[in-house]
Amino acid sequence: MKTILHLNSSIYGSDGQSSRLADEFVAQFPAARIITRDLGRNPLPHLDAERFGAFLAKPEGRTPAQQAVVDASDALIAELKEADTLVLGLPMYNFGVPSQLKAYFDHVARAGVTFKYTEKGPVGLLTGKKTYVFAARGGLYQGTPRDTQTPYVREFLGFLGINDVEFVYAEGLAISEASKTQSLTAAQRSLRSLAQPERIAA
Ligand SMILES: Cc1cc2nc3c(=O)[nH]c(=O)nc-3n(C[C@H](O)[C@H](O)[C@H](O)COP(=O)(O)O)c2cc1C
Repeated sequence: MKTILHLNSSIYGSDGQSSRLADEFVAQFPAARIITRDLGRNPLPHLDAERFGAFLAKPEGRTPAQQAVVDASDALIAELKEADTLVLGLPMYNFGVPSQLKAYFDHVARAGVTFKYTEKGPVGLLTGKKTYVFAARGGLYQGTPRDTQTPYVREFLGFLGINDVEFVYAEGLAISEASKTQSLTAAQRSLRSLAQPERIAA
């Protein structure tokens, strides 16, 4: 059975437009095993020196508090490893990704676990996964240099070895009701055409 890791990151939880699109996409795969994380509703702590120190500490020298931090990160990474497919609900807030998603990224980027350094540079260790991103924005950015969110997400996932990343955009949601309706309808059409069972079979 195929496994989908479904991550939403809207501050509105399942009411977010990005969450609704991601939820609708995941619902097209009733036969898959779904692991869901609502990062907006259940946020992770921000990474700080203490938490990052836990990642760097040698296993035998970890304090109980450090071990708890590593265990929590390991659990997130185990979900990523189990997944064949990632589905990400991605709002734009203040030109970037939600800080809750950044906190998640900060807890799954682990040297020697999800990437490693080699003489030829960093190598991602989470290979063979497909990602679908459902990006919701008030304005219009797609395909312009003002869209710093898309390259950032691609760069981060690629750093972990996840290079097959497809974006569906719902943009112009704050421009007018007509623009919102048109954009959401187009995004729903795209997601349904993407939602072929073989899409998550790779
Ligand atoms: C705090 C906040 C900041 C936002 N910043 C931006 C922005 O920088 N650019 C933009 O186009 N839309 C911005 N928006 C609009 C959101 O992108 C839009 O509401 C989108 O639907 C958010 O996704 P969500 O509904 O899944 O939460 C912002 C919305 C909020 C609540």
